Amino acid sequence: MYGLYRDAYQGVMKISNYFLGYHMPEYIFGRGSVKELPRVLKEKDAGKVLLVTDKGLVEAGIAGRVTALLDGAGIDHVLYADVVANPTDDNVEAGFSMFRESGCDSVVALGGGSPMDCAKGICAKAAHPRKSVKQLFGLLSVHWFVPKLFAIPTTSGTGSETTIAAVLTEAETHHKQTIMDVVLIPAFAILDPELTLTLTPELTATTGMDALCHAVEAYTNKRYNTKVEDRLALKAVKLIYDNLYEAYEDGSDIAARENMQLASFYAGRAFTRGCVGYVHAVGHTLGGLYGVPHGKAMAILLPHVMRAFGPAVHGRLAKLADACGIEGSSEAEKADKFISWMEELKKKTGIPEKVDMIKDEDVDQIIRWAMKESNPLYPTPVLWKYNDFRAFIESVRA
Ligand SMILES: NC(=O)c1ccc[n+]([C@@H]2O[C@H](COP(=O)([O-])OP(=O)(O)OC[C@H]3O[C@@H](n4cnc5c(N)ncnc54)[C@H](O)[C@@H]3O)[C@@H](O)[C@H]2O)c1
Ligand SMILES: [Fe+2]
Repeated sequence: MYGLYRDAYQGVMKISNYFLGYHMPEYIFGRGSVKELPRVLKEKDAGKVLLVTDKGLVEAGIAGRVTALLDGAGIDHVLYADVVANPTDDNVEAGFSMFRESGCDSVVALGGGSPMDCAKGICAKAAHPRKSVKQLFGLLSVHWFVPKLFAIPTTSGTGSETTIAAVLTEAETHHKQTIMDVVLIPAFAILDPELTLTLTPELTATTGMDALCHAVEAYTNKRYNTKVEDRLALKAVKLIYDNLYEAYEDGSDIAARENMQLASFYAGRAFTRGCVGYVHAVGHTLGGLYGVPHGKAMAILLPHVMRAFGPAVHGRLAKLADACGIEGSSEAEKADKFISWMEELKKKTGIPEKVDMIKDEDVDQIIRWAMKESNPLYPTPVLWKYNDFRAFIESVRA
C-alpha cells in the first residue's frame, strides 16, 4: 500500500520538476578564477557583502585572500567566519543578524558545503525574517526573493554551489534537515581548483567520495532524471574514477584538482533534480547525532547501500562501469566490479569499512529520521521500510 502512495507521490513530483526551473548558476571555472570575484560582484550590482566562511578557511589563508581582493576593489564587506561543520540553525541566525545589522544586500559563501549551506540559510532567513530555520525546512519553503548569493567552493564534494539544498542541523535536537528551493541555487559560482590545493588527503578523499555518492545515487535513482542529469552523473563518475585517488595521493596535482572541481559541480547538478538516496538519508543522521563529517559518512555507507540494493541496480551500475572502462561479461559482473572499485578506493584512502559510533539507544531515532528524509521523496531503486533500515544499520555497525 505504501509503495502505491510513494509511486503516486513521485509521479506528481516528476511532473512538477518540469516546472520548477532547475538550472545551473552562472559560473566561471579555472585556475586563479577567484580573482574575478570583484568584477563579478560589480557586474551583478552587489552592494555590501556578507562573506560567510569558517575557521579552517581563515587558517588556510583563503579567507584573507578573498577579503584582500574585496578591499582592493573597494567593496564593502563584513565577515562571518564561525560556521561549524554540519552547520546549525544557530550559525544561520548569527550570520543573518550580522547580515541585517550591517546593512548587507548580498552574500558570498566561501568554503565547503558547511559555509555554502549556512549562507543559503541566511538567504532564506532574509526572505522570511520572522520564521525560524526550523519553519523553513522542507521543499519549496522559501519561494520568495532572496539576496544574491555568490558561491566559491573550496572542497570538491558537495556541489552545493549548484544545488537547491541547504542542509542544516537543529542545534537543540541534532536533527539534520534540509531547506530545498530553487531560489537557493546561487546566482553565480566561481570554481577555482587552486583553492582546493590546501585540502588534507583525508578531506580530499572524503569530500570526493561525497561527490561520487551524489552521482551514483542520482544515477541509480528512478524517475526524476532527464538526459541532462544522467549525462552529468556519468561524466562526474568518470572524472572521479580518473582523478580522486590522484588528488588524494598528490595534493598538488592541479589537473586532478581541476577535474574533481568539475566532477563535484556536475554531480551536484545531477542530484539536485535526480535526488540522493538512502546513503544520504542514513548519513545525515550520523552527521547530526555524532558530528561525523558528511563525506566520511557517505564514503563508509555508499558501497554497502549499493550492495544491499542487489540486482535492482545492476543495470545502472553496469552503465557507470562502462563509462569508467570497467569490463565484465554481464551487468551483474560489471556492477560487482564497480562496487569493488569503490570499496578498494575506501581502503586505499584510509576510510573505515564500517561505522563504530552508533549507540543502541539511537537506532530507532536514526531509522525514523532517515525514513522521514527519504520516503516518499527519494526515488530510490528499492523501497526500504522500517525493518529494512534496521537490518541495514545492523549490517554496517562495526
Ligand atoms: N547543499 C547541498 O547540496 C549539500 C550536498 C552535500 C553535502 N552538503 C552538506 O555540506 C556539509 C559538508 O561540506 P564539506 O564536505 O564540503 O565540508 P565542510 O564545509 O564541513 O568542511 C570540512 C573542513 O574542511 C575545511 N576546508 C574546506 N576547504 C578547505 C581548503 N581548501 N583547505 C583547507 N581546509 C579546508 C573546513 O575548514 C572544515 O574544517 C555537510 O553539512 C553536508 O550535509 C550539502
Ligand atoms: Fe552529500
